[in-house]
Amino acid sequence: MSNSPIGIFDSGVGGTSIWKEIHRLLPNENTIYLADSLNAPYGPKGAEQIKALAKKNTELLLNNNCKLIVVACNTATTNAIDYLRATYSVPFIGIEPAIKPAALQTQTNAIGILATKGTLTSALFSNTAARFAAHIKIVEQVGEGIVELIENGQLHSQAMKTLLLKFLDPMLKEHIDYLVLGCTHYPYLVPLLTELLPSHVKIIDSGAAVARQTKNILSDLRLLNTLNATPQLHFFSNRSTKVLQTLLNSNTCTIAPLKF
Ligand code: DGL
Repeated sequence: MSNSPIGIFDSGVGGTSIWKEIHRLLPNENTIYLADSLNAPYGPKGAEQIKALAKKNTELLLNNNCKLIVVACNTATTNAIDYLRATYSVPFIGIEPAIKPAALQTQTNAIGILATKGTLTSALFSNTAARFAAHIKIVEQVGEGIVELIENGQLHSQAMKTLLLKFLDPMLKEHIDYLVLGCTHYPYLVPLLTELLPSHVKIIDSGAAVARQTKNILSDLRLLNTLNATPQLHFFSNRSTKVLQTLLNSNTCTIAPLKF
């Protein structure tokens, strides 16, 4: 049993989609979330730069006594998690595009993956794709511009709709029946994607699996916090906190600006 918080970071506000899954499954845990929105998007940056940003975020969370760190960012996970695990002794949970379940369930033998350039060009992504999806067609699409629109509060904009239509078109031409969301910002697009996609195309992301994995690791290490009735839920952003407020829409969370 440990009262220490779970630390969570992302390049911005998207990882709150993962925080929501974690908080739903582990409602007694204290959490600290860092939105590195000042440096978003991570997707177009090189691996060394992504590692340096992941290191900075990790050290801030460790200075706040976090017992486990969730890298709530596919781009940071696929580029930096090996480095983080080799550098720090705290357990890390990462997130990767859910290629395996999509590859196992597709009936058309074609799946679409929407993710950042940093994720799609990573060795971890190619290895996972080669391992689980070598027998099917993967239509990869860099979601260029999506993270910026979400970070700027334009989730429901016409610009977003236009971008998504452009990204979905090549996937639909290849008859995908699964769309894998490979970026933690994208679960916020599910209502719009559902509207734009034919009804037989299923959307999957890895958020619930990350929450289950977090619970399993804390339980194995006897670090679960099961008795805390009033968890502290702290969110920090190094840019405006406005979009965080909108996405969290909660009066039990504290949301504050912080320089990091
Ligand atoms: N939420 C991040 C991810 O899961 C977005 C990356 C970015 O900032 O480009 O990949």
